Amino acid sequence: MKRGEFGNLRPRYSKLVPPTVAIFLISLLPFFVFSEHTNLGSIPSHLKSDKSHHRTEIKQEDKELFVSAKQLRSKPKESCDIFTGKWVFDNKTHPLYREDECPYLQQWLSCTKNGRPDTMYQSWRWQPEGCSLPKFDAKLFLEKLRGKRLMFVGDSIHQNQWMSLVCLVQSAISPGKKRTSFSTYSNRFIIEEYNATIESYWAPFLVKSNGDPPKMRTGASNITIISDSISKKGQKNWKKTNYLIFDTYAWWMKHPTVRLIRGPFDKRAKEYEVIEAHVAYERSLRTWAKWVDEHIDPNRTKVFFSSMAPQHARALDWNNPNAAMCERETTPILNMSIPLEGSNDHRYFEIAEKVIHSMKTPIKFLNITTLSEYRKDAHPSIYNKVPSPEQKANPAKYSDCIHWCVPGLPDTWNELLYVYITNQY
Ligand SMILES: *[C@@H]1O[C@H](CO)[C@@H](O)[C@H](O)[C@H]1NC(C)=O
Ligand SMILES: *[C@@H]1O[C@H](CO)[C@@H](O)[C@H](O)[C@H]1NC(C)=O
Ligand SMILES: *[C@@H]1O[C@H](CO)[C@@H](O)[C@H](O)[C@H]1NC(C)=O
Ligand SMILES: *[C@@H]1O[C@H](CO)[C@@H](O)[C@H](O)[C@H]1NC(C)=O
Ligand SMILES: *[C@@H]1O[C@H](CO)[C@@H](O)[C@H](O)[C@H]1NC(C)=O
Ligand SMILES: *[C@@H]1O[C@H](CO)[C@@H](O)[C@H](O)[C@H]1NC(C)=O
Repeated sequence: MKRGEFGNLRPRYSKLVPPTVAIFLISLLPFFVFSEHTNLGSIPSHLKSDKSHHRTEIKQEDKELFVSAKQLRSKPKESCDIFTGKWVFDNKTHPLYREDECPYLQQWLSCTKNGRPDTMYQSWRWQPEGCSLPKFDAKLFLEKLRGKRLMFVGDSIHQNQWMSLVCLVQSAISPGKKRTSFSTYSNRFIIEEYNATIESYWAPFLVKSNGDPPKMRTGASNITIISDSISKKGQKNWKKTNYLIFDTYAWWMKHPTVRLIRGPFDKRAKEYEVIEAHVAYERSLRTWAKWVDEHIDPNRTKVFFSSMAPQHARALDWNNPNAAMCERETTPILNMSIPLEGSNDHRYFEIAEKVIHSMKTPIKFLNITTLSEYRKDAHPSIYNKVPSPEQKANPAKYSDCIHWCVPGLPDTWNELLYVYITNQY
């Protein structure tokens, strides 16, 4: 199989977008909240939704997961681009679980628990044009994952999505057969009942950088990367998985330029080139692409790449003169004549798309950018912790408009991922 597989990819972003305006990256390190009690939720456990998914067929289906675009076109549902559509308010089906039902949910994402007063942001369902997303069936998903490892690799946006996926499946696992485990680079959700794991791996640039070590994750120093090197640790971990989902965007937005060094990474390394971030982005992604092509066995590991997760750092982008950032936003952008790109830098979208096209490994490009751009309401804002009076009084200064509340938008990203992992298209 062939060049990068894009399914429905239809490049449309051809015009150049002006360079990003100041973007604040609130570097949040998850403030872990561990809760011992197991609150079993009520995700229906039936498997009736699709009778064709007999267990014996799963292996065969896996092989078909990344069928060529041509083959896909012969399937009836293929005409449907699941990334193009609209948001529909649907509080009958969404949220898919309640925030307080997920004992693993970390505080930085528990928006209502931290005091966010509105909850409508949890009840929007993504409605693709021409088809509907299948219902998220946690048991079916776990069957697909049996004996396997799924890993999100990238920045905190992917830790955010990891958290959502854990919450989506956890209630379908028997008590005592699931646990979390945290180490320097990995967050792991271990599902003993299915001999499976759902993990996230910290690599904010995918290539080696000074943002990798725990103490540097505040992003306070100038960004220094080695664009031609993937960390050894990463290589070892990523290879042994069955589903790999990569992303990298947020950290590239911190500064217009990055320092790029060659050779071994060392505090004393004084020699560096200062280059524009998007140029370094392309070089780094090419290093990553080469690594994937050389080291990932597509028969064993299915690879996904999440397109850039947009930020809502400038309220004027959606014509709101009464706010600075995403604070106090309670509804998605519903005015369809607002140009969505706003102050997000879509060059990063285009570069990723181009690099992935050039690869020999089939990569599924998860085109979540546009649908997320509508969701100015879905960020934690000041509710990534219990806000102090000072923070409440100055939301524009303290808002996190980068990450996303859970439950919320990351559940939709996982509903989309689910489509491919359960092979429903
Ligand atoms: C991504 O999805 C948006 C709609 O959500 C669509 O307009 C755009 O063409 C898609 N881009 C690619 C490269 O698939
Ligand atoms: C759903 O939303 C409607 C309209 O806002 C409201 O009247 C209704 O009570 C909500 N239902 C639930 C289950 O939250
Ligand atoms: C559990 O899964 C691993 C692969 O992740 C496999 O090597 C091992 O044999 C499995 N163990 C059991 C008991 O199925
Ligand atoms: C980052 O680099 C700039 C210019 O090279 C320098 O002025 C600044 O002090 C550096 N900041 C840090 C935190 O090292
Ligand atoms: C993957 O599987 C196909 C068909 O089963 C086989 O022809 C091919 O050599 C395998 N590729 C690798 C890298 O093992
Ligand atoms: C919708 O957006 C357009 C373009 O930005 C703007 O001119 C118009 O006033 C907006 N409409 C409403 C109802 O806000």
